[in-house]
Amino acid sequence: MAKIIVSGATGLLGRALFARLYREHQVIGLGYSRAQPPIVKADLFDKDAISALFTSHRPNFFIHSAAERNPDKFDNDPEHSIKFNCAVTEHIAKCCEQFNCKLIFISTDYVFDGRNPPYAEDAKTNPLNLYGQSKARSEVLLQAQYPHAAIVRIPVLYGEVNYLGESAVTVIAEQLKNGATRFDDQCQRFPTDTADIAEALAGAINTQGAQLQGMYHLSANERLTKLEMAKLMAPQLGLDPSILAATAVDTSGSATRPLDCALKDTRLGVQGIEIKSDFATRIAKVLTPHLSQ
Ligand SMILES: NC(=O)c1ccc[n+]([C@@H]2O[C@H](COP(=O)([O-])OP(=O)(O)OC[C@H]3O[C@@H](n4cnc5c(N)ncnc54)[C@H](OP(=O)(O)O)[C@@H]3O)[C@@H](O)[C@H]2O)c1
Repeated sequence: MAKIIVSGATGLLGRALFARLYREHQVIGLGYSRAQPPIVKADLFDKDAISALFTSHRPNFFIHSAAERNPDKFDNDPEHSIKFNCAVTEHIAKCCEQFNCKLIFISTDYVFDGRNPPYAEDAKTNPLNLYGQSKARSEVLLQAQYPHAAIVRIPVLYGEVNYLGESAVTVIAEQLKNGATRFDDQCQRFPTDTADIAEALAGAINTQGAQLQGMYHLSANERLTKLEMAKLMAPQLGLDPSILAATAVDTSGSATRPLDCALKDTRLGVQGIEIKSDFATRIAKVLTPHLSQ
């Protein structure tokens, strides 16, 4: 049994990580504004408090899932968001080094520009927006100064949400509920269930333990645009998918979202750690509690 600290354990992914890892390991979940026991409240900006967590718990793994991922927050307060995604990560990496703890840093497919998919773990990054840039900056820092760290890039997530707007996938159901009929049909996405990420990471920790190191990609393999996702969700909302259509193509050239960041999971895939799940079945299960209200 390993001792694992999970940051962001009140968030979309962190909740799934906590729930899955807790079954086999001693897990200390950290949260902030939503922290309720057993989740421990800890402000990741408070360096002394974070260092004290390492001193008192001496964890074997620290999964750093907490991050700012909301583009609006980046627009409104870029300094705070960049500090959260970069300086906080650096301090956690320092603590991990000092306490001989394996850092697993959760990153994103948005470190790529989406023009040359699929991307292997060693592909060149070129983020298009501040969020992707902040993650890419932390990746570079970890690779250069904390090479023992493992970095796990993942695509857009869905899973057990507290409210439909919590994920960029389930928000589509909310938009459908509100009468939207037009959705983007250009950007290719690989929506991945947080439970699958948690299962895969549990498998990686259990089989490779402290050997985990360097860059990993982890992604579901179903390619879907928002329009295609909306069409799969529509029947559950009592809507005819044929009424849905593509939004007008954005020709302004100002798009800051990559077109296709397909991730090739070459390193975990060879270990038999792959995500194979049926989006239509999974999303129906996720939406059910929210549509029956
Ligand atoms: N969601 C996606 O589609 C997606 C896609 C690709 C990669 N990722 C990456 O996956 C990871 C998890 O994302 P997510 O969707 O689970 O994020 P999320 O739902 O937005 O959760 C963010 C977490 O950060 C915590 N947090 C915020 N401010 C904090 C502070 N000052 N101190 C301590 N904790 C603080 C939040 O705690 P409280 O809520 O309790 O305040 C929450 O647990 C991130 O690294 C993200 O970049 C996400």
